[in-house]
Amino acid sequence: MDLQWLLVVAVVLAALSIIYTSLRVGITPMPSSSKSRRVILELLQDCSGSSCFAELGSGWGSLVIPMARRNPGKTIIGYELSPVPYLVSRLLKRLYRLDNLVLYRKDFLYADLTAVDCLVCYLYPGGMEQLWHKLKQEKLCATVISNTFAFVGIEPERLVRAADLYNSPIYVYNVTR
Ligand SMILES: C[S@@+](CC[C@H](N)C(=O)[O-])C[C@H]1O[C@@H](n2cnc3c(N)ncnc32)[C@H](O)[C@@H]1O
Repeated sequence: MDLQWLLVVAVVLAALSIIYTSLRVGITPMPSSSKSRRVILELLQDCSGSSCFAELGSGWGSLVIPMARRNPGKTIIGYELSPVPYLVSRLLKRLYRLDNLVLYRKDFLYADLTAVDCLVCYLYPGGMEQLWHKLKQEKLCATVISNTFAFVGIEPERLVRAADLYNSPIYVYNVTR
């Protein structure tokens, strides 16, 4: 098989992997818009007293990488289930030599988040419900910054709209026990 065919096979396998995982997880690895990212990175400045941030579903790394670059003194953790975006984010971490960034190919619902002060996510309604259940069941205290999707029935501390095409709402919650 020549190189051209190897590339075609690799692209097809990567696409199939993304489609399969998106169907299994319930959401595609679509990145936040650049304007949403900017808002989230600014909101994270308010968590300056925190030592550990995590992104729940870190996709291709387009947000978790700038989170780590902007906060060299903090530990930044990314959890992602989809193998191809996860591998790309691993490459970016290496490229930028980000020693403060830890990336896991793991379901964040089974992760120990007790040491995390600030959680960032861009999920889907069912994912937000599962996250809320985890936070309450494990009595976790954290600031949660969520792109587009809210915790149903819970009043956010702040609601900021990104100046992108969808005027994406960014919700901030201070979750206590
Ligand atoms: C809409 S994308 C957002 C990507 C990135 N957070 C951003 O804002 O650019 C949602 C990502 O969450 C991941 N995801 C959803 N549920 C997950 C779970 N329980 N554990 C780990 N990753 C999850 C998906 O695979 C997908 O890549």
